[in-house]
Amino acid sequence: MADDSAIEVVVTRIDVGPDTVGASAALLSAEERERARRFALDRDRCRFTVARARLRQLLGMRLGVRPGSVELTYGRRGKPALGGALAHSGLQFNVSHCDDVAVYAFSPAREIGVDIEAVRVIPGADEIAAHAFSPRENAAYLALAPRDRPLGFFNCWTRKEAFVKALGAGLSHGLGRFDVSLAPGMPACILRVDSTPGDRCGWALHGFVPGPGLTGALVVQRVHGPMADPERITVRSLPCRRLTDAMNEHDDA
Ligand SMILES: CC(C)(COP(=O)(O)OP(=O)(O)OC[C@H]1O[C@@H](n2cnc3c(N)ncnc32)[C@H](O)[C@@H]1OP(=O)(O)O)[C@@H](O)C(=O)NCCC(=O)NCCS
Repeated sequence: MADDSAIEVVVTRIDVGPDTVGASAALLSAEERERARRFALDRDRCRFTVARARLRQLLGMRLGVRPGSVELTYGRRGKPALGGALAHSGLQFNVSHCDDVAVYAFSPAREIGVDIEAVRVIPGADEIAAHAFSPRENAAYLALAPRDRPLGFFNCWTRKEAFVKALGAGLSHGLGRFDVSLAPGMPACILRVDSTPGDRCGWALHGFVPGPGLTGALVVQRVHGPMADPERITVRSLPCRRLTDAMNEHDDA
């Protein structure tokens, strides 16, 4: 039986020079180039272009195809997935970006969601927590010492986002329908989904640190049964240069 438990998380920076942005644009589909064109800010257009080209490169490397020929399709709420013949590979992925950092999560077969955020003090955090977190999460958040609140807030935020991204549901999935842990230094876990305890909900939550000042969360579909291995997560940082070199090797454009 193929090992579907090896989960890979790749962290890379997407602040690159104009030449690389240009070479990245050449890897995008016409639809993606059109989407890039619609960004009002140059900075956002460049970030989208480079992040999407990186995704195509990383998928292409795993599938043995050229980045430009990776066909992508979208779920009802916008979750990207492999399309066409590549859909049969079973490879699942998800993407998150924060400023100039992009994170890509890959799983051979299990549904997956990832989210990253910069840990910072934001105005109105307590009000946002009261509105967006479940009552149990909000109580856990309010119980934190003030110095732990920014990390507790973004632990909760990324964990909730990663879960709804794994489901592909976006915010259509009520954020109060499930509880996650959030206290700094405590294990990341799903505590409840509707009336099901977290350890039986069919999903596993992992926290990770994508880089200085960032927090990240990964949610992976959990497979039960005697042959099912718990997921094994590898997080690695990929320097921009490695992907830029790969781009030049594989694509002449
Ligand atoms: C779009 C959404 C899926 C994530 O958005 P986000 O956290 O702002 O942005 P991220 O960078 O983490 O993720 C964006 C990527 O997720 C992927 N994505 C888009 N829709 C998705 C969906 N329905 N499910 C999973 N992934 C999705 C895409 O790859 C997208 O990148 P791209 O636009 O470059 O292709 C959605 O959850 C959302 O709108 N969130 C709003 C934030 C919020 O209120 N969160 C409350 C948490 S308590």
